[in-house]
Amino acid sequence: MKKETKMWDGRFESGMAKSMVDLSFSLHFDREMLAEDVAGSIGHAKGLVESGVLSEAEFQQVQEALNGILKDISAGKELFNAQDEDIHMAVERVLTERIGDLGKKIHTGRSRNDQVATDFKLYMRHRAAELVEQIVALQRVLLNLAEKHLGKVMPGYTHVQQAQPIYFSHYIMSFFFVLQRDRQRLENLLTTHSELPLGSGALAGSAFPYQRHLVAQELGFAGVSANSIDATAHRDMALEFLSDLAIIGSTLSRYAEDFVNWSSAEFGFLTLHDAFSSGSSMMPQKKNPDSMELIRGKTGRLGGNYIALFTTVKGAPLCYSRDLQEDKEPVFDSVQTVRICLQVMAEALESAQWNFATMEQKMLPALLATDLADLLVEAGVPFREAHHIVGDMVGQAARQGIEFTELADSYWEKLPGGVAWRRQLTFEFSINRRSIEGGTGLSSLKEQFRKAQTMLEQK
Ligand code: ARG
Repeated sequence: MKKETKMWDGRFESGMAKSMVDLSFSLHFDREMLAEDVAGSIGHAKGLVESGVLSEAEFQQVQEALNGILKDISAGKELFNAQDEDIHMAVERVLTERIGDLGKKIHTGRSRNDQVATDFKLYMRHRAAELVEQIVALQRVLLNLAEKHLGKVMPGYTHVQQAQPIYFSHYIMSFFFVLQRDRQRLENLLTTHSELPLGSGALAGSAFPYQRHLVAQELGFAGVSANSIDATAHRDMALEFLSDLAIIGSTLSRYAEDFVNWSSAEFGFLTLHDAFSSGSSMMPQKKNPDSMELIRGKTGRLGGNYIALFTTVKGAPLCYSRDLQEDKEPVFDSVQTVRICLQVMAEALESAQWNFATMEQKMLPALLATDLADLLVEAGVPFREAHHIVGDMVGQAARQGIEFTELADSYWEKLPGGVAWRRQLTFEFSINRRSIEGGTGLSSLKEQFRKAQTMLEQK
């Protein structure tokens, strides 16, 4: 018999070409899943006790050795080497070196196909749960901000043009509620993808008696996969996770875009803390909102990661093909990216200075045009006509170079409410006419705070 060098080399006469090693080895990135590989193997070993492959004492020994590997690597010891193809083979090799022949039993009834599917699923489940916590932390920052500054007014925009007056808190709460859906998507992912792949073997199911439900319970899965081909071949969980992460990125990016603008002299609404800004190497006066620009910029790769895996998966034949090894790097990258973006967004907003006086100064009286039209409607004028009358007033004012609220009394006297309407038209008046559920009015905002509080308490 040939000397054993690789775990599958029984079948082979020559070793792998150097170029092929470079193409195929994945340890340099999939070691990111070390903790999940160790956990997955401990769960599997527990199943092997049930199968009669390992005694209880042997299981204890395997468990201890696996935990020892995790501990040593976490402490900075390098146990792996250039011959280790991936994290799964690396851990098994070290295990076997440490506990001898017993280590060789761990792969009984298991293929790397169901092993990798299990480890990766565990990895995504753990990271999704952590990201939920981070979203909740950002939501707390936002709710605090909105409650603290209740009553401060600002222009609300559409098309980056001043549109209607709003409370600052209303804008901030919009961020809270979109994040709630970002959070729910991750929670849905955890519910949908809660089945254990182990026991599926390479594709057809393990031939050994194996208590899959027990292993599932051990590893925190709600049940076991119903079909071994499905369990080893599909990567829809990764696609869903990547899409959830890309959507979180797009949420953060849109607010980041506004905050970049708000930090400019033209808006002047927001001053980021120095700790979340940077200077220019040439222009001494510059303080740039780099934190927000980077959050906006990083979102591109989140979409790219989704597309990369989508493209790989769509043509991969069933069951397992090696193409599927390409599932990991996009997910690792997106997790790391979203993690840092959520962190920075929370810290940057918590430490920022909001310039409410500037927000108010910048508000144009034209923000009240809709309210005047609404008053006309209440006085019995059909809306289209009311819209036209007010539009005409705004147009005449623009031609005179003044605001429509500054038009001569003669214009106002033609209206049912007369000049009294001009006095009535204030930003607070406009805002508090919108106390409808979901509107910017004060009572609506208090209701939003109540809803938000309940969402934060729902765990
Ligand atoms: N490193 C591989 C992956 O992540 C492990 C699975 C290998 N399976 C196989 N049949 N070659 O996909």
